[in-house]
Amino acid sequence: MIVHKYEELDSTNDYLRRKLDLQDYECVIAENQTKGKGKRGNIWVSSKGAALFSFSVPNDKDEFLEKVTIFTGYIVREVIKKYIDEENQKYLTFKWPNDIYYKNRKICGILCEVIRNHIIVGVGINVNNTDFGIYKDIAISLLEITGKKHNVDTIISQITDLFIAKENRINIEWEQILQNINKFNYLKNKIIKKKFDGVVDETEYEFVRIDRKGQLTLLGDKMNEVSFVSLDFVVL
Ligand code: BTN
Repeated sequence: MIVHKYEELDSTNDYLRRKLDLQDYECVIAENQTKGKGKRGNIWVSSKGAALFSFSVPNDKDEFLEKVTIFTGYIVREVIKKYIDEENQKYLTFKWPNDIYYKNRKICGILCEVIRNHIIVGVGINVNNTDFGIYKDIAISLLEITGKKHNVDTIISQITDLFIAKENRINIEWEQILQNINKFNYLKNKIIKKKFDGVVDETEYEFVRIDRKGQLTLLGDKMNEVSFVSLDFVVL
């Protein structure tokens, strides 16, 4: 993997987007971002001590696009959990569609974007940072969980190495990955309400599973199952 490192960038995803000669498996790491991007146009508060990186992956496998965010979440969780005591690893969960939580707080966000014939996988992990700006009440870092600092570059290379090692077997191992993602799932046993344009709908849904296509399946009040490719929601 080719690695570029910067003290500051606007967004590591946008850096790779602008690169016209983008190769397969190029990784860019920034110590800080001035315009970190999250899903749905949200900002990603970026500060020193966090792992802020993006890498390019060829978009050449069947159904890769619908699986890649969940796959990345699985890989990130596998790496981060090793830094946490075994008895507390169960608190590290995947929150559909693109977050990793520790208990009720977010430790990682993932933003995958299609750029020409590549997928850009963008990952932000709160590692040694403790200033989360507007997200101060809902974020947490590895430093806060473990009480010690960790090497950011090591964590990034462990994630990209594991991603590349497992990527070719994604379709063969998909059922196992899904089982893992469903087992360590933030939404398990939680009640959800849909949200449209900031307005919360009255109907309550129960989490059922993440399905083969990476969609969120919920159980409605009439015991009907409904699946969503994308959904804005609140957790009760
Ligand atoms: C989200 O939580 O909505 C996704 C956040 C993704 C943040 C990372 S930080 C590195 C990369 N560059 C960006 O601008 N965004 C991603």
